[in-house]
Order: sequence, then structure tokens, then C-alpha cells
Amino acid sequence: MRLDKKLADALNITRSEAKAAIKQKAVCVNGRVITAADFACSDSDSITLNGQAVNTQTFVYIMMNKPQGVISASDGKGEPTVLDLLPDAMRRKGLFPAGRLDKDTTGFMLITNDGVFAHNLLSPSKHVDKTYLATLDKPVDDRVIADFENGMELNGERLLQASLRPLNTEQTVVEVVLRQGLYHQVKRMFLKHGITVTALRRTAIGQLPLDPALREGDSRYLTAAELQAITA
Ligand code: URA
Repeated sequence: MRLDKKLADALNITRSEAKAAIKQKAVCVNGRVITAADFACSDSDSITLNGQAVNTQTFVYIMMNKPQGVISASDGKGEPTVLDLLPDAMRRKGLFPAGRLDKDTTGFMLITNDGVFAHNLLSPSKHVDKTYLATLDKPVDDRVIADFENGMELNGERLLQASLRPLNTEQTVVEVVLRQGLYHQVKRMFLKHGITVTALRRTAIGQLPLDPALREGDSRYLTAAELQAITA
């Protein structure tokens, strides 16, 4: 791909802005100043702008620790979205949140521009587990656990088997693992048993846990190994 297009895509700037930066000798490819806007780059080239590394991968995968109160959609219809929280250096055209978390749910949100990856992540047939930590207003009992684990019927629909594991002696803090992502699924599964979820946090996608060092609202790129752990 041409250098000006690659820069424009990566930095969410116009082609003319990219060309201007190249002309000003601000852009290096593999350590060498390049002044030709049509210089041919490959995905493995390392590009810097004013000495700062630019992520020019065609596809990017971002882990965000979503805080409460933001919408996990590309258009929040006037409300702040997870995309609004991304730092400038990570913004680029075509990014979207892969899957939804409710406005009041916190935790692991994956943001990408790779539609095929997102489709695979969300498709129930691909069986990518999503793990949640839920705080409940009442304890679960063996009957509730069995209903989750057998694949419960919810509003006339048979759900895929899920796992439910109490984490405290009161049985009010639980880990739930789902293989599908229906609207308000965790909350509705508990409500069927008269239990309200008072706090919900996604703690892992596939085999990849949310980075505990990532503060709420912060984001970082996934490494290649982490990306593999998601779909492993
Ligand atoms: N289930 C829910 O009820 N809400 C979420 O945000 C995610 C899963």
C-alpha cells in the first residue's frame, strides 16, 4: 500500500495531511526518511512520524477496560461511546466494538476494525467463551446452577449450556461463563430465578483475561499471543 494512504488510514488523517508530513521529512520507514508519498509499504514495515511509532497494521485489536456509563456502540446517539474513550493515537477509521456490554456493565471490551474476527468472536457456533463476574441481590442455589449448566429455557428459547460458579460463601458473587451473547443475557438468566444482578463485569474473552493493570477507561493493543488466546 502507498505510504500516504497507510499513514492516513493509521492516523485517521486526510491523504493531503499525510502527504504534507511526508514532504516535511517527518516520516521514516524502517529507520529511513521517505519523501515519496507513493512509496510502497508492506504490513511488516515499521513507520514513525516525528520519531513516534505508528501502528500501521491493517487490522488492530484493542483491549479496553470499559467503565460504567458509556455505550458499546459506534454511535451513542448523543451519549459517550467506548470509541470516544480511545486516545488519539489509537483512533482510526473503521473501528467498532466487537459485541455489546450494557451501559452499566464494566470490563473487557474488544475494539477492532476486523469484521471477520468480530463475526467469529460473536458467533455461537465458534464457542468463544465470555466470562463475567456478577454480584447478586440473592444467593444462587443448586437448582439455579443446574438450570444454567443444562442449557436453560428463556422466553421460549433454549440457551447453550453455561457455567455458574459461586465465589463467596454467601453465594452472591458468582462467575458466569457464556458461549453466546443475547441481549441482557446474564441479567435475564438470573431474573428468571427472581435474582437481580447488581453489578456485572466481563473478566475474560476466550482464554484471555482482562489485563488487571488496565485501569477503567484505559485501552491497549493486544499482542499476537493474546489475540491467539481469544480464539484458541
Ligand atoms: N449480559 C448482560 O446482561 N449484560 C451485559 O452487558 C453482558 C452480558
